[in-house]
Amino acid sequence: MHVLLTGASSGIGAALARVLSQDGHVLTLVARRQALLDEVAASCVGPTHVLPADLTDPVVVEGLVAAAEALAGPVDILVNNAGIEYVGATATMDPDVGERLIRLNTLTPLRLIRSVLPGMLARGKGQIIDVASAAAYVFPPYGTHYTASKAALAAADHQLRWELRKTPIRVMTVYPGPVRTEMGTRVLGHYRTDPSKGLPWGNADELAQRILHAMKRGDEEIFYPRFYALSRSFARLTRFIMRFIPVELRHDA
Ligand SMILES: NC(=O)c1ccc[n+]([C@@H]2O[C@H](COP(=O)([O-])OP(=O)(O)OC[C@H]3O[C@@H](n4cnc5c(N)ncnc54)[C@H](OP(=O)(O)O)[C@@H]3O)[C@@H](O)[C@H]2O)c1
Repeated sequence: MHVLLTGASSGIGAALARVLSQDGHVLTLVARRQALLDEVAASCVGPTHVLPADLTDPVVVEGLVAAAEALAGPVDILVNNAGIEYVGATATMDPDVGERLIRLNTLTPLRLIRSVLPGMLARGKGQIIDVASAAAYVFPPYGTHYTASKAALAAADHQLRWELRKTPIRVMTVYPGPVRTEMGTRVLGHYRTDPSKGLPWGNADELAQRILHAMKRGDEEIFYPRFYALSRSFARLTRFIMRFIPVELRHDA
């Protein structure tokens, strides 16, 4: 199967690239940092292509599926994993930063889904995997745009599953809680005290294995670590409890 995987230069995407390639998939890896993409490709065992691209540019995004298909044939599996976070007070943030974040985390995945779907429907097979976040329900504090971007992606997936219910196309949403990656570490650096203290953290390799397993079963959703499924089941309670957790931003971060 040909997998188009975004955000493959580090963290969850890099781990997933290795796991998918060991499982026999042909990969097209996308991110901005070509040197890192090349390193990840070198650590993969099967045929692996790299397509360096800035996915905040809608023109680039519009041509991405065609570019990937020119390299390795029809895209069977789309993994929308590329994402950025922003931690900061809404009142003082640069609105352009927030809009760029929503473009990368929400609008780009939707545009890529729009690009792959006609081919998947015509071929009668395909899988779409969107890496959202447990932040769709709670956390991280001071993450207004990030939370909005992931909640919107998750909501779009609910809708898409309904729309595609009579087709063989499967849509899976991944809801990671905190995972030790570049992003996970960077986010923590914005707070005076760790708001995730005492809560479980995951690691990218284990999450990648979980995603592969869930893909094979055709699951609709994964929460990882599983503890964060509670963030949905008890979303109102969790938000209530969060009011009492003292979280302060570092002003030098
Ligand atoms: N780590 C966590 O705690 C956590 C929790 C919940 C959800 N997530 C989600 O998991 C996904 C992967 O995050 P991660 O933790 O693995 O973080 P990461 O290591 O920072 O990876 C982010 C990936 O996105 C790519 N990316 C960023 N901006 C891009 C752009 N403009 N164009 C193309 N690619 C771009 C990065 O590559 P380049 O910089 O090379 O472009 C990198 O490959 C994200 O969607 C994130 O929101 C992470």
